[in-house]
Amino acid sequence: MVPGRALSLEPLLASRRVILCVGSGGVGKTTTAAALGLAAAARGKRVLCLTIDPAKRLANSLGLAAMTSEAQVVDNARFTEAGLTVEGSLTVMMLDTKRTFDELVHRYASTPAARDRILGNKLYQYVSTSLAGTHEYMAMEKLHAVKLEGRYDLILLDTPPTANALDFLDAPERLVSALDSAAMRWFIEVFQESGSVSFNLLAKTAAVVLKGIGKLTGGGFLQQVAEFVTQLNDLFGGFKERAAEVARSLRAPDVAFVLVTSPSPMAIQEVLFFAERLREQGMPQDAVVVNRVNQPPPCEPDEAAAREELTRLGLALDDDAPERLVRAAGDEGRLASLDRRNLGALATGLGALPARPLRVDVPALPYDVHDVRSLAEVARYLAP
Ligand SMILES: Nc1ncnc2c1ncn2[C@@H]1O[C@H](COP(=O)(O)OP(=O)(O)OP(=O)(O)O)[C@@H](O)[C@H]1O
Ligand SMILES: [Mg+2]
Repeated sequence: MVPGRALSLEPLLASRRVILCVGSGGVGKTTTAAALGLAAAARGKRVLCLTIDPAKRLANSLGLAAMTSEAQVVDNARFTEAGLTVEGSLTVMMLDTKRTFDELVHRYASTPAARDRILGNKLYQYVSTSLAGTHEYMAMEKLHAVKLEGRYDLILLDTPPTANALDFLDAPERLVSALDSAAMRWFIEVFQESGSVSFNLLAKTAAVVLKGIGKLTGGGFLQQVAEFVTQLNDLFGGFKERAAEVARSLRAPDVAFVLVTSPSPMAIQEVLFFAERLREQGMPQDAVVVNRVNQPPPCEPDEAAAREELTRLGLALDDDAPERLVRAAGDEGRLASLDRRNLGALATGLGALPARPLRVDVPALPYDVHDVRSLAEVARYLAP
């Protein structure tokens, strides 16, 4: 046990309405989000896990054919089978960027005709899925929309790896400034003044905008772009206001950031960097989960004892089996002490933050976490 370290994320489960799980690739964000979801549901909360990860095996073990953009309630029988009593409910939903964008168009288009023109525009498909920051923004948008609905007591957001998770923070601002960029405004002006566009003039000045849409070339293309940008402009006022609202809601006191990391030095560096970025942005750094921490072997390795134990278990192994067992236990011990050292560096880094986040360590389990039982085990470490 590390002195001064919290042993449970219970306070967050009890006090927050939104928890974002962020961290670098493969550290356990999806696992943490799902396990926290289970822990909260067991405490009687109506929980939504909003994920970007298809997590096929996890979905299957929850009794779902796949994660979909429709909310799916996990049948409580799944929990009962695993020996758990869940008073609340666990719902899972996968983010769908295009669909969320469509919903925004529906909400903010000034007339049904304007809405249909945008949704029917060939370029819309591209912009609604590929414009820089769209995915991150739409994740925030969806989170905000679901929070406003009030159907859930707690929403857990599972995010893509850190490089993108950093983008979450300013996604609303970035998307608005992309739509509001000088090039975009220029497009609108040229198009509205002349009613049509001169290819040469546009080709020279709007190269920036067009670079990303390089694949779509052809005769009336620039005219189409100009038309589309003008149509989008119709949404802009409402859209900009909404983005500001989403940005504000990310900074609300009922939102928590849980930074997930492995004990590896690289992951620890990243998590400290991310905590610092959050601090700069005035966002909370509520908790750090160190996942897959190697544990020291339960006792000092000893060849004679290993031989005795193998015999007792009736395991007829090679003569050098006890020696190999002792060596394996030694490796385990070394990995565990390496982790302990790395975690010392983490504690120092976190200690330097003005408000020290909660920290919970989850041991490396000897199996993958894909079913309700193993999820419950992780949940017991996160919030005993
Ligand atoms: N404490 C643990 N012990 C053993 N295995 C674990 C543990 N935590 C997670 N895993 C396994 O590690 C793998 C990666 O976990 P997970 O999918 O949660 O990571 P992620 O951060 O969401 O990854 P990605 O960045 O790819 O979305 C999974 O196969 C999961 O079952
Ligand atoms: Mg994941």
